[in-house]
Amino acid sequence: MAEHAHPPEFEVLLDTEAIQRRVRELGAEITRDYAGRELDLVGVLKGSLLFMADLARAIALPLTCDFLRVSSYEGGTKTTGVVRFDFDLTQPIKDKHVLLVEDIIDTGLTMSFLLETLRLRMPASIKVVTLLDKPGNRRTEVPIDYVGFTIPNRFVIGYGLDLEGRYRNLPYIAAMKEPAAG
Ligand code: IMP
Repeated sequence: MAEHAHPPEFEVLLDTEAIQRRVRELGAEITRDYAGRELDLVGVLKGSLLFMADLARAIALPLTCDFLRVSSYEGGTKTTGVVRFDFDLTQPIKDKHVLLVEDIIDTGLTMSFLLETLRLRMPASIKVVTLLDKPGNRRTEVPIDYVGFTIPNRFVIGYGLDLEGRYRNLPYIAAMKEPAAG
């Protein structure tokens, strides 16, 4: 298998060039919107790892970076909607301009939990940037301020996203192939 390869049941959905171009655009937009302010980028691990690294480099503003990790409690094969912190931020966000950085918003349960929880800490503002938005599977309404790509309701891997822990290092995004019709 080549160094960067996806499993055969997946196909390329977004190539490296398309991702890099879009991340630069998002960075430029965020730079304009936050001009004159200091930004606190908060990456949601582990999926936002690659996006966060590229996005931070595309934003031409003074900024700080922090990370948190949450997991949703899985009851059997279904997400129950119960989200908890695996680990929290290292710095307070009171009076800061927080931009939450996510890899993908699917049901929306993780992001609505995070917004609800972090708002209690009185940031000056809190916004959301996600590389991918999968609105077809939403279970709760989430305000998203910046979206890289809106994608169909398919399981994706690469550029931070995993399948059982693997494939986060793919520089592109691959989606599980649709079963052939008929
Ligand atoms: P939500 O709470 O359902 O919005 O899910 C958010 C999290 O689920 C993301 O941060 C991912 O870790 C994971 N996730 C959702 N869809 C996918 C996918 O297609 N591939 C890999 N991980 C996914």
